[in-house]
Amino acid sequence: MPDEVRQGKSTTDEHLIRDLAYQTVDRGNFHAMMDVDRYDNRTRDYDEIISATHDHFWDPNDESYIDFSQPFDMDPEYLMLPRRIRELRGPMLKRLDEGQQIKLGNEIMHWQIFNIIHGEQGALNLSTSLAEILLGAGAQEYATNQAGEEARHVAGFYHYKRDRWGMAYPIGDVLGDLLDNLIKTPVVYKNMVGMQMLLEGLAMGAFPNLRKHARDSVLRRPLLLFMTGEAFDHKFGKIWTDKTICNLSGVECDRVEGWPAECLEFLLFHFVKIRQKLMVYEHFGLDWEWVRDAVRETYNDT
Ligand SMILES: [Fe+2]
Ligand SMILES: [Fe+2]
Repeated sequence: MPDEVRQGKSTTDEHLIRDLAYQTVDRGNFHAMMDVDRYDNRTRDYDEIISATHDHFWDPNDESYIDFSQPFDMDPEYLMLPRRIRELRGPMLKRLDEGQQIKLGNEIMHWQIFNIIHGEQGALNLSTSLAEILLGAGAQEYATNQAGEEARHVAGFYHYKRDRWGMAYPIGDVLGDLLDNLIKTPVVYKNMVGMQMLLEGLAMGAFPNLRKHARDSVLRRPLLLFMTGEAFDHKFGKIWTDKTICNLSGVECDRVEGWPAECLEFLLFHFVKIRQKLMVYEHFGLDWEWVRDAVRETYNDT
């Protein structure tokens, strides 16, 4: 292998790469991908989840999987069980009549669905960037498969949003900043843990919850299909951690565990920030600070 290719490998401690199968190269180092030894160094660790890709394939454009044109009348009915919507309590119930409450609840869901689309787009960008730097052919093939799956998730949620609402919402600050950091970080273990464990783990928690309480069957169906895909993506990260964590020193383990803990703490305290939805409240003539105070009246520290 030429020296310049060898030098392009990201084997520094910073990335915490402990297994040949997960070695990475600097972005754009295409020569490293042409290294003849590389093909023989392919891991079998991912064969099972790569082969399973076809079993859980679905096509968002094929109505035999999901018929997005099925109607749901949002004027008289909530898309989501209203007690799952924290704004619909206390002072808000006095301020808005019942019809407006349903409209607000459904508009909040519109905002949430659009944030999920942005989240799926983030997962798509993260998996394509991983595919670009992973030198191991097996890991690279899975990351490429995942990119295709995430693209279908973006398309599926977009179809749902298109048939229920016209307009789009920008991403909320908190999720937007987290995704931006995950995509921009040059540190490989942060890409892997942040994407495959943290984000996929969040999706694995949020999607079943959404599905359980969604009243629109057209929303429940894709959520079931998405959950299957996210479980495999999470498994991709778990295989990486199984091979990596046991080969780290105590200090390195602390780094790998401490970083997602910080991200989770950030999400825990900021993800539900009312200010992010100010565009939603404006449709109803509500000031976001009034909404924040109203929510605080019903959800105190206790
Ligand atoms: Fe996804
Ligand atoms: Fe995923």
